[in-house]
Amino acid sequence: MEKTHTLHYQECTIDQIDAADRQLMQAAIAATDSAYAPYSHFHVGAALRLEDGTIVQGSNQENIAYPSGLCAERTALFAAGAQHNGKAVEALAIVGRESSGALVAASPCGACRQVMTEQESRQGHAMRVICYYSDTKILIFEGVESLLPFVFTM
Ligand code: THU
Repeated sequence: MEKTHTLHYQECTIDQIDAADRQLMQAAIAATDSAYAPYSHFHVGAALRLEDGTIVQGSNQENIAYPSGLCAERTALFAAGAQHNGKAVEALAIVGRESSGALVAASPCGACRQVMTEQESRQGHAMRVICYYSDTKILIFEGVESLLPFVFTM
């Protein structure tokens, strides 16, 4: 039997997202400055907002032994877990920046989606994921299920 799965998300401009989420995206943009990306030259910034309003930033941290590096999203999520144990993540914003300084799209990789899924399970509710594609194209997912359907569970 053939079935269809529908993914829900919103597309809007940077000016249309609500003030708190726009501030979160600004924090993600600022976080690209701390990326360590001498190999890919692709700077990724992430910023998450906890339930108490605290913003935690992350950026990609590369390593000469490539798999030893870590994406911006997981850097932020693990920093929040380590420094703000037990606090729920309400929203996570992600953006890419090229060496030229231009902001570009950054959609979370599969491993980061898996980690986001586990964060949702731990906190018992979904987190909003806000992905920058351009100033006129921001994608908003009201939970990781829309980014990673049929996720691995045991
Ligand atoms: N990267 C992230 O930080 N987040 C993603 O979701 C995708 C990729 C990083 C990893 C690596 O440092 C660089 O971008 C190029 O893959």
